[in-house]
Amino acid sequence: MANASRGQWSGRLGFILAAAGSAVGLGNIWRFPYMAGENGGGAFVLLYLACVLLIGLPVLFSELAMGRKTERNAVGAFRALVPNTWWPAVGYLGIAAGFGILAFYSVVAGWTLGYLGHAVLGDFGAAMTAEQSNALFTSLIGSPTQAIAYTAGFLLLTILIVRGGVSSGIERAAKILMPALLAILIVLAVRSVTLPGGMEGLSYLLKPDFSKMTAGSVMAALGQALFSLSLGMGAMVTYGSYFPKRENMPFAGAMVAVADTSIAILAGLIMFPALFSAGLDPAAGPGLVFVVLPTVFNSLPAGTLFAIAFYALLAIAALTSTISLLEVVVAYFVDERGWKREKAAWVLGSVCFLIAVPSALSQGGADVFTSFLFDTSFLDIQNIIWGNYALSIGALATCLFVGWKWTVGKGLESLEASGHVMPLRSAWAFVVRFLSPIAIAIVLGYIVLTGQYF
Ligand code: TRP
Repeated sequence: MANASRGQWSGRLGFILAAAGSAVGLGNIWRFPYMAGENGGGAFVLLYLACVLLIGLPVLFSELAMGRKTERNAVGAFRALVPNTWWPAVGYLGIAAGFGILAFYSVVAGWTLGYLGHAVLGDFGAAMTAEQSNALFTSLIGSPTQAIAYTAGFLLLTILIVRGGVSSGIERAAKILMPALLAILIVLAVRSVTLPGGMEGLSYLLKPDFSKMTAGSVMAALGQALFSLSLGMGAMVTYGSYFPKRENMPFAGAMVAVADTSIAILAGLIMFPALFSAGLDPAAGPGLVFVVLPTVFNSLPAGTLFAIAFYALLAIAALTSTISLLEVVVAYFVDERGWKREKAAWVLGSVCFLIAVPSALSQGGADVFTSFLFDTSFLDIQNIIWGNYALSIGALATCLFVGWKWTVGKGLESLEASGHVMPLRSAWAFVVRFLSPIAIAIVLGYIVLTGQYF
């Protein structure tokens, strides 16, 4: 199949930035710190790092290998490799997960727009107590009109970029924005660590307390590793499919993982010292980042400018991720169903908005959704179902597929297609065939059997 019309990254750097743009997002800055806070801090961080190394990286390379070889989307890649089997079902699950994640992610991403608005109005220029910050957050997310309007606005931005295509739309945005985000995070981390009482937060993050560890936190760490690296639903299959044949894929993949993991840790270094310094509860849940940061901005020189820059970049980091979520779904409809990219972006983005409305209303806007099932909000339920379960199942299936059906030899051939050797190639093959699938299956099985997660 001729693929010139599908588009391609302009080169290795373009891929790294776009894939890191997909990986780095609210998962690092919003989800990672609150997950760590709810699951005992340091112990969770260790589990998370283990999951990235032993499961995340192997799955990342499995997905990239499939995408590069087939130059297809999440479903099409399975179809091309093993026609007339049930394996493409894994791709369909991925498409559903992409939709499901986008439908709650865009709500949280919408909040960043709301915060950006407050920053522009100068609301973070003066000292803000933890109570004031909490009140601001609660009123913003609890207002039905604001929550829905921000979600719609965010999806609209996503649609506008995805309809522009691969290198002109997605890549161009990522090239400028990723480095700017990194710079601002470093400044914030330095400020946070040097706040009075900040050291306590640092030790919370770095000193593991294993008594806090439960099967639920292992599941959370696994889900977080997959979510943060954009794995388990075909996003990296899709991004790998635009990877130029001549470039070094093992290196590029490793850079994406390094960038993603360092930014998550950096976000932790910002959040926990500031949180302890302001006397907030680390287990505060999804509101954590939004509540903590406004208490520190005023202690920075040019706090208002700084707050504007931070929320603008956070919104952009989220945007490079929502782009990849929508892109997975769009690529499927373009490749497999013959839709025009333009139509796919608008139709699918709009449907996603409808699914996002209950999540947008679930944070105080409408009682039915606030405590939807098991005393959990609609947004959190989506987050758990798609962000933890669907991704784990997708990652498990991907390992089994690459390890046993397509086979690791073919996977390596694809990863090494440019002539660059994959480091630790036999270790990768072993982990993909045995360690990762067994570990994921144990975690999933335990959680399902004990019903622990909710
Ligand atoms: N990785 C992104 C983040 O950390 C979210 C994301 C984008 C994602 N694309 C994905 C998660 C695909 C899972 C699958 O914010």
